[in-house]
Amino acid sequence: MSKTKTGKQELILGIETSCDETSAAVVADGRIILSNIIASQADIHKRFGGVVPEVASRRHVENITLTIEEALTEANCSLDDLSAIAVTCGPGLVGALLVGVAAAKAISFARGIPLIGVHHIAGHIYANRLVSEMEFPLLALVVSGGHTELVLMREHYDFAILGQTRDDAAGEAYDKVARALALPYPGGPHIDRLAAEGSPSIPLPRAWLEADSYDFSFSGLKSAVLNTLHNASQRGIELDRADLAASFQASVIEVLVEKTIRAAVEHNVEQVLLAGGVAANRGLRERLTERCREIGIALVIPPLALCTDNAAMIAAAGYIGYQKGMFASLDLNGTANLPLETSVRL
Ligand code: KG4
Ligand code: ZN
Repeated sequence: MSKTKTGKQELILGIETSCDETSAAVVADGRIILSNIIASQADIHKRFGGVVPEVASRRHVENITLTIEEALTEANCSLDDLSAIAVTCGPGLVGALLVGVAAAKAISFARGIPLIGVHHIAGHIYANRLVSEMEFPLLALVVSGGHTELVLMREHYDFAILGQTRDDAAGEAYDKVARALALPYPGGPHIDRLAAEGSPSIPLPRAWLEADSYDFSFSGLKSAVLNTLHNASQRGIELDRADLAASFQASVIEVLVEKTIRAAVEHNVEQVLLAGGVAANRGLRERLTERCREIGIALVIPPLALCTDNAAMIAAAGYIGYQKGMFASLDLNGTANLPLETSVRL
């Protein structure tokens, strides 16, 4: 079927409202971004030191229609050109998710366009397909504000979680440590910048857990940073914040990267993918690149703009759902805790 100015393409409208970005995108054939509009609320939530769910929902309501219109205009297409609408249906803030889901359902119903529910983490993983074709089996290291997971994929939409965090997510640990260092929300990028100016000279623990475990834990590290700060202030010692940021980052990265490499070797994967907001971390990108090169496994990392929440990644994942005929009905709901393994049955 002929779809756009560019010829025979399947156009998917992606919608993402799971946290504090209202985003809409049009992606052609699952891989070509025609538009990716992101209305960030970070400045609004900054003054509260984190995302306020009720405020987030209200801002999504205000932004969603314009964001979708802008995405269609920039892609130079209309609703009639769309093959499907893909929307994040979980996990996330339920009131925030519902805004995107309601908008997607309204358009789907009004125009008779197929609807696809997308798992937010599947979206982060599929951001990589906007860069490079996936080759299976592959291993995805997912590191975001709410998730830290090692996911083994043997084929499209087949997600096996090898390990995950037992407490804080990596991004959450970054944000909490940033707060202790009086850095603004979201703290990850600030720590990343500060870490580049310091040296990892302050001893901090590495949470390896049991020898064969692919799980993670960051709350002990976070407490160790807080204790270090507290002890220094009790003794009237001025700690170098850049050194502390570098030491914290070194601990997080070493554990993330070494567990990823071990799992990649054990499962003999073709590719390693990096996904989620923390994938924007320069130190992590450099170290993982270095280690994957050493062991001779291909690494795919999305560009910075596709690491944090955006709708192009939701459209990219939705395209696979579309090809598999995994359509949602109009009773699709927003689900705060949606397991990744079940997302194929939505
Ligand atoms: O994936 P994302 O945009 O939202 C969630 O799905 O959670 O991830 C946001 C997280 C925040 O915790 C933020 O601090 C972190 O990603 N982040 C970073 C960097 N950029 C964003 N963490 C470390 N270094 C960065 N450069
Ligand atoms: Zn995310």
